[in-house]
Amino acid sequence: MTFAVTIHSLRGGTGKTLISINLAAFLARMGYRVVVIDMDIGAPSLQTYIRELPKKRINDFFNHQATLEEILVDASYLVGPNPKGSLLVGLANDRTNFVSKLEDIDREKALNELYKLINLVKEVLPNDPWNADFIILDTSPGFSKDSLNCVAAADHLILMLRLINADLGGTGQLLKTLHLSLKPVSSLIVNQVPQIFMDDGNDEYTRDLINKHIVEPVGSDRIQVAGFITNDEQIINSEAEFAMYFLEGEKAQRPVHAISNPNGFFAANIQSIADYVVALSKMGD
Ligand SMILES: Nc1ncnc2c1ncn2[C@@H]1O[C@H](COP(=O)(O)OP(=O)(O)OP(=O)(O)O)[C@@H](O)[C@H]1O
Ligand SMILES: [Mg+2]
Repeated sequence: MTFAVTIHSLRGGTGKTLISINLAAFLARMGYRVVVIDMDIGAPSLQTYIRELPKKRINDFFNHQATLEEILVDASYLVGPNPKGSLLVGLANDRTNFVSKLEDIDREKALNELYKLINLVKEVLPNDPWNADFIILDTSPGFSKDSLNCVAAADHLILMLRLINADLGGTGQLLKTLHLSLKPVSSLIVNQVPQIFMDDGNDEYTRDLINKHIVEPVGSDRIQVAGFITNDEQIINSEAEFAMYFLEGEKAQRPVHAISNPNGFFAANIQSIADYVVALSKMGD
């Protein structure tokens, strides 16, 4: 059975795309078949990790101008040599004249298209490498139509937030709103936590506070804190390095840190999130 996970957040820049691609690659390294899709149609960024960009994008699929096979690219090379699993990526069109195209489709129609996409991956294309174990949907922040559709269509919602006031308060509000109507089974990942907050049992203290002030007020037993991801200096430095390549006009793809630096804290964080997601996917078996 394919397990579809939406990675979402209220505010921008919480690490959705970073976690989507790293989690996807890590799951593929563990031996799973993973499809990750850029549903941040308005401001796509998954393409910055990919070597050969396909002509057809997810926008074309939704507009009935491409098949699933045409839009998914094999990015298993991101997983390292001889990966046990596979990684397929569906990119959104990053040229600005395409970006707003999906806004033309009404919400219900867009949701139907998304169900169609997920069902295609789940059922209609049952042969390798198509029948994925996991589909990961990387969304845009807030209450956009496409993001709400991803929340509605997936089996599980992962909400990203940072340990800053605006994210904490806002995420509580977002959860309350989602649990009034869509009631998704959800997990919270707190990202960019300073390492010092993870030492000496501080993580349990922080987890208790988040449960008390964000999870419990929503009044649903369908939400839990999945874990923490520390702020990683190597990622910050490498982002600047790759931005310099870009400014100098060189072609370079961003590294998938959990794979390129397997012994770092970040890889250990992604490992525990991957184990958590695998356990979730088996709960219904
Ligand atoms: N744990 C971390 N350590 C260091 N840098 C991080 C970490 N998490 C995210 N970042 C950095 O923060 C920036 C924003 O991350 P990312 O693009 O994944 O966020 P996003 O939620 O997808 O943003 P958007 O809402 O714009 O789509 C990136 O430069 C990313 O490398
Ligand atoms: Mg993003």
